Amino acid sequence: MSRILYETASTFNGFIADESNSLEWLFAVESDEAPAVAPTATVMVEGSTTYEWVLRHEDLIAQPHKWAEYFGDKPTFVFTSRDLPVPDGADVRFLQGSVADALPAIRDAAGDGDIWIVGGGELAAQFLDAGALDQISISFAPAAVFGGAPVFPRALGPERLRLLSANAVGQFAHLVYDVLPATPAT
Ligand SMILES: NC(=O)c1ccc[n+]([C@@H]2O[C@H](COP(=O)([O-])OP(=O)(O)OC[C@H]3O[C@@H](n4cnc5c(N)ncnc54)[C@H](OP(=O)(O)O)[C@@H]3O)[C@@H](O)[C@H]2O)c1
Repeated sequence: MSRILYETASTFNGFIADESNSLEWLFAVESDEAPAVAPTATVMVEGSTTYEWVLRHEDLIAQPHKWAEYFGDKPTFVFTSRDLPVPDGADVRFLQGSVADALPAIRDAAGDGDIWIVGGGELAAQFLDAGALDQISISFAPAAVFGGAPVFPRALGPERLRLLSANAVGQFAHLVYDVLPATPAT
């Protein structure tokens, strides 16, 4: 069965974007290897802030061919309560409401491949709340910001996390944790 992976880059003090939704701290890191790409994923899932940021940053409505260059033909599921534009030819599917209700459509599109939660942290946390988060991979950058979008806004203790690997990837510290199932209260 598909695994559900939250893979992202973060400042070392725990933010995936600063207070202006900027990723300048990330682009400033000199590294040959791009962090936060889940190669086994066949579908991507993201919140609308992340989706709109990518559209704006890459000018994808005006230059839709760039969508395929970056994301290929993988379906992208975007959680939103609003009507948002889609680059011509991109396979973007909108969802809203509970993760549990949305999961069958996401799993169906993923087939045997993995599901990559691109971000943000609150959406990844909604997957945890639904008991549907298998792995968290974070590339910590050598940067700190004052505040912004938190990498994972939930409490999660060591009884739920197992460290699988910790590697230096260029200037990034890449940590991978398996998320263990919650034990039922007795
Ligand atoms: N460092 C990295 O690698 C990395 C990775 C990803 C993102 N980012 C950045 O981090 C920031 C992400 O910010 P974020 O965590 O605040 O936002 P986000 O998860 O990208 O988007 C949040 C928005 O998604 C919609 N949404 C979320 N859950 C929903 C649900 N269950 N049903 C319907 N709509 C739902 C809501 O907006 P509406 O309903 O109003 O549409 C919500 O305000 C962005 O600036 C992004 O560029 C960084």
